[in-house]
Amino acid sequence: MTFANCYEDGARAEAYATLEFKNTYHLAYRDIPAILGAHVRGRKSIDFGCGTGRSTRFLRQLGFEVTGVDIAEDMIRKARELDPSGDYRLIGSDDLSSFQSGTYDLVLAAFTFDNIGGKNNDNKVRVLRDLGQLLNREGRLVLIVSRPEIYTHEWASFSTKDFPENQLAKSGEKVRIIVTDHADPRPVEDIVFTDESYREVFEEAHLRLLQKYEPLAREDEPYWWVSELRIAPWAVYVVECA
Ligand SMILES: C[S@@+](CC[C@H](N)C(=O)[O-])C[C@H]1O[C@@H](n2cnc3c(N)ncnc32)[C@H](O)[C@@H]1O
Repeated sequence: MTFANCYEDGARAEAYATLEFKNTYHLAYRDIPAILGAHVRGRKSIDFGCGTGRSTRFLRQLGFEVTGVDIAEDMIRKARELDPSGDYRLIGSDDLSSFQSGTYDLVLAAFTFDNIGGKNNDNKVRVLRDLGQLLNREGRLVLIVSRPEIYTHEWASFSTKDFPENQLAKSGEKVRIIVTDHADPRPVEDIVFTDESYREVFEEAHLRLLQKYEPLAREDEPYWWVSELRIAPWAVYVVECA
C-alpha cells in the first residue's frame, strides 16, 4: 500500500488554515486544557504535525512554550504567515535530530498519527520511539487521533457517506473522509487505526499508556451534532516512556 501525505498541497493548506475549534473539532480540543493540567508539569513543548499552526497557537494560549514541527512545506509556510512570531520548523521525513532529547515536558500530536502509514506499523513505532526520546523524565506524549468510527459515520465537521469501502478497511489501511467545515471538497486520505493497534505500537515503542479519553458531545453545546452525542469521534492518549 502506498500512502502519500495529502497535506503537501498549497490548496489544502489554504483551506486547512481556516479551520478553528468548532463542530466536531470542538470535541478534539475541549478537554485538552484539563487533560494537560492533570498530566503535564512543565511548559516546554513540541507540537508534532502542527499543520497550519492551529494546535500550536492553542498550546501557546495555554501558556506553553511551543515549537511547531511538520514535514509539509505548504502547511509550515501558512503557519508562519498566520503567526509570524511563532516558532515553526519544517523537518525532513521524521528527522527530529535537531531537537534536544530528554528535555521536553510535552509532545502533542493532534491528528498527525492519522497520516502516518507504512508497512507493519513500522513508521508509527519509529516516530513514537523518537518522540518518546525527546521527553524528560516527567514528560508526556499526548496524541489526539481519529477513532475508526469517524470514517463510517456522518459528523458536524465531516462526511464519509461517499466512501462505503471505509467499512471494510482494516487497521493500518487507507480510508477517505471529507472535511465539510472548510472549502476544499477533496477527500482527505487517512490511515484507520484501532485502539488495539495503538496499544500495540505504544508497547513496541516502549511507551506506557497512562490514560485514554473519548470525548462525547453534550446537548447544551452550541453545535448541530450529528453522531457526536452517542459516538466519540476522537481518542486522546496520554503516554509516558516505560
Ligand atoms: C490533520 S493535520 C493536523 C494539524 C494540526 N495539528 C491541527 O490540529 O490543526 C496533520 C499534519 O500532520 C503532518 N504530518 C504527517 N505526517 C507527519 C510526520 N511524519 N511528521 C511530522 N508531521 C507530519 C501533516 O503534514 C499535517 O500537516
